[in-house]
Amino acid sequence: MSKVTFFKGEQFPLEMHKVRIIQKLNLLPIEERLQAMNDAGCNTFLLQNRDVFLDMLTDSGVNAMSDQQLAAMMIADDAYAGSATYTRLYDKLVELFGMDFFLPTHQGRAAENIVSKVLVRPHTVVPMNYHFTTSKAHVTVNGGEVLELITPEGLEVSSTNQFKGNFDVDALEALVADRGADAIAFVRMEAGTNLIGGQPFSLANLREVKATCDRHGLLLVLDASLLADNLYFIKQREADCADMTIPEITRAIADCADIIYFSARKLGFGRGGGICIRDEEMYKRMRGFVPMYEGFLTYGGMSVREMEAITVGLDETMDEDMISQGPLFIKYMVEDLDRRGVPVITPAGGLGAHLDAMRFLPHVPQSQYPAGALAAALFIASGVRGMERGTLSEQRDADGVEPMANMELVRLALPRRVFTLSQVSYAVDRIDWLFANRELIGGLEFVEEPEILRFFYGRLAPIGDWQERLVAKFREDFQDSL
Ligand SMILES: Cc1ncc(COP(=O)(O)O)c(C=O)c1O
Repeated sequence: MSKVTFFKGEQFPLEMHKVRIIQKLNLLPIEERLQAMNDAGCNTFLLQNRDVFLDMLTDSGVNAMSDQQLAAMMIADDAYAGSATYTRLYDKLVELFGMDFFLPTHQGRAAENIVSKVLVRPHTVVPMNYHFTTSKAHVTVNGGEVLELITPEGLEVSSTNQFKGNFDVDALEALVADRGADAIAFVRMEAGTNLIGGQPFSLANLREVKATCDRHGLLLVLDASLLADNLYFIKQREADCADMTIPEITRAIADCADIIYFSARKLGFGRGGGICIRDEEMYKRMRGFVPMYEGFLTYGGMSVREMEAITVGLDETMDEDMISQGPLFIKYMVEDLDRRGVPVITPAGGLGAHLDAMRFLPHVPQSQYPAGALAAALFIASGVRGMERGTLSEQRDADGVEPMANMELVRLALPRRVFTLSQVSYAVDRIDWLFANRELIGGLEFVEEPEILRFFYGRLAPIGDWQERLVAKFREDFQDSL
């Protein structure tokens, strides 16, 4: 994708694929978008897709599949036990990661359930570069504590640091000295760190973490859900890896880990997940949970068709043209927003563009969920569905105290090979308008707050009539435009 130079020096991502199947989209008038948002309790997770124009909620299970993936789905072997489809997936994982054991699961969080059930004991800690919502929930539900040991640059919203997902190795050493290695259930490293803007770690940093783990006998668990983006960034940004192939970088990463788990809704472009395990003893400790919670050992709750698609998707993840599409589109979007003065996480990461709601809406206190309010406002203004990644996505602690998130982000995911550049430009245009009218946007309050993972299905309401005032201003500025 990046090898083409343009005559007048412009820079834009050129797709190395063509579109052969399309899905018709619908853009409702703004009054109906307002109604849909309120019907959804101001929570973008609760919108009906028929009301959404550009669905930038997530990349999970919604990346475009290739013709090769669809073709492979036709040869899936349906056997309950011992299917050839499983063997093809297993062989591909061994080829890429070099680990002998694999447990299939129905998606990434099911893998987290098993890993945490086996490794986390009450009062143990799990240091990680940064938490992911479901990863944290599984650690805490088993009595463990999550400690985020990201390097300080990771939490700087605007930065030129190329590896904001790096682990703070000195902090890990200090933790071992303070609590002792026995108190550490495992060390978790997340590729393409989701909640801080899809930011990568470097291979050098991962190797340092691995050396620290080895010194203290700690297990290193890699969450590889967003590995594709991280691979691309290592290849592009880490000078020592410039001459390595993508499969070589993949293996170098895998060599550092004892366990690799992943959401195949992200890695492999299908729907499912799994756990790759180096050690047979560990495999046996985890194995029993698969038939108990997932399905038999050779499908783990996944459909065989999806497993075939994942096998091909993993292979295609080794193709730099394929894995560059997401990061290059995201870079285009982030740089356009940045040029217009819209506060956005820099440098551009993987997964999507991330608006910084703290700077976008400085007048909305964190207790009124600025990122949730901005996501609601953006849907009303444009029909673009984003996702709140801030205080709403946090969980109250055991005493009912609501922790304020380190960052208040609206994530605009760009599922790979799904949107065109003109659709990205439309989203940028409406965000730009919203930024010009930001003082109109107010906060949100809960009307129904679930105890667990509240961001998924909690219902909120606007504080005051700011949504109606936003609609009125839109009509004034855009007249009868959708
Ligand atoms: C880093 C990371 N880990 C784990 C998960 C959970 O995976 P799943 O949604 O397949 O359960 C996700 C999903 O978004 C993720 O991004």
